[in-house]
Amino acid sequence: MSADKTGATNVVWHETRITAEQRAQAKKQKACVIWMTGLSGSGKSTLANALEVKLHEMGQHTYLLDGDNVRHGLNRDLGFTETDRVENIRRISEVAKLFVDAGLIVSTAFISPFRQDRALARGLFEHGQFLEVFVDAPLDVCEERDPKGLYKKARAGEIPHFTGIDSPYEAPDSAEIHVKTGELDIEQAVEYLIDQLRERGVLPASN
Ligand code: ADX
Repeated sequence: MSADKTGATNVVWHETRITAEQRAQAKKQKACVIWMTGLSGSGKSTLANALEVKLHEMGQHTYLLDGDNVRHGLNRDLGFTETDRVENIRRISEVAKLFVDAGLIVSTAFISPFRQDRALARGLFEHGQFLEVFVDAPLDVCEERDPKGLYKKARAGEIPHFTGIDSPYEAPDSAEIHVKTGELDIEQAVEYLIDQLRERGVLPASN
């Protein structure tokens, strides 16, 4: 499946009568996507989950898109070649866009290793709606943690194209938010994220 071809012709965009702003307003919130990127084992899923719990407690309407989960369903046909990863991120970006259009605060937890794909994702959203979060734990820390035992397998040559081992990870150079999960524990990391979301006006100053 090619990411840059249009499959359908003679298709016309229909404006909806209820706007994205109205949907978000009905939920009394600002819709956005909090795009977490980082190595496997850096803490993206854990952080995204802890953040969602916190936002939910604050009365915010959320959704969480997680790499491993989406690969069980929508993207079950995709592997980890470069082409498949590009398509993985393209589909996720479009799904995130639909959920933001629905007025939700969407967190995504995908390695999303390529700068260009993250830039394409960003391009789907309005200014200020896409917040890139670099979930930053060094490779040696991720490998030491190895929560799923995948680094060990990758080092043994049992998993080809493993990010950080024999497939590249392009760290963001201008992410809106940089969370050093190699240094902070999960509570500190969530607190930092919430502060940042407040500073950026996504969340009200106090809640
Ligand atoms: S992405 O690169 O396409 O963004 P995604 O976040 O969806 O990756 O999936 C990453 C998860 O798939 C990892 O956390 C890990 O559990 C699993 N995985 C399986 N094979 C690989 C691989 N070759 N490289 C990285 N992660 C892999």
